Amino acid sequence: MSLASAARRLVACLLAWGSCEATAQSKPGDCPQARLTQSAPPEDLMKRNPLLGNSAAASAGRARFQGNADTDGCSLCHGKKGDGKGKLAKLYDPPPRNFTCAATMNAIPDGQLFWAIRHGITASGMPPHRDLTDTEVWQLVLAVRELATSR
Ligand code: HEC
Repeated sequence: MSLASAARRLVACLLAWGSCEATAQSKPGDCPQARLTQSAPPEDLMKRNPLLGNSAAASAGRARFQGNADTDGCSLCHGKKGDGKGKLAKLYDPPPRNFTCAATMNAIPDGQLFWAIRHGITASGMPPHRDLTDTEVWQLVLAVRELATSR
């Protein structure tokens, strides 16, 4: 375990008031999911999705999310169903976000999702996507939002 991930786990234990056991066993697909993700700057957090309710945009986002699940696409890590159990998920600590988990997703604003997709999350497996247009990133945010159905 790297020093950074050990430190993250210690913080998780403190935040969870002693449920260190559960946090240390954090695995792909957990719901609710322990989340110690960097926060977007306030001006990014406040951004609204300009494509809300646009079904063509959602469908473009879904296609990009799936990509070719064997070689690229968000699904490689986040899973075809967005449940955080993609082919590569086990390689990452923290594990990829489980988008089907409403208990975790409902607490995350659209602006945070946009920022995480655009810039990636430092010291995690979440890569930046600097080549996408803002519209393409918002399409992905729509697609990710649709996945939170479990509870
Ligand atoms: C190589 C693996 C990998 C790929 C590919 C990947 N992600 Fe992630 N993603 C992760 C990991 C790991 C995390 C968890 C990071 C953390 O909690 O610090 C994450 C977290 C996220 C988050 C959560 C941000 C938050 O604030 O909670 C979003 C949104 C996200 N990814 C969207 C995407 C989208 C959309 C794509 C495709 C364009 C994608 N990811 C591709 C590994 C990946």
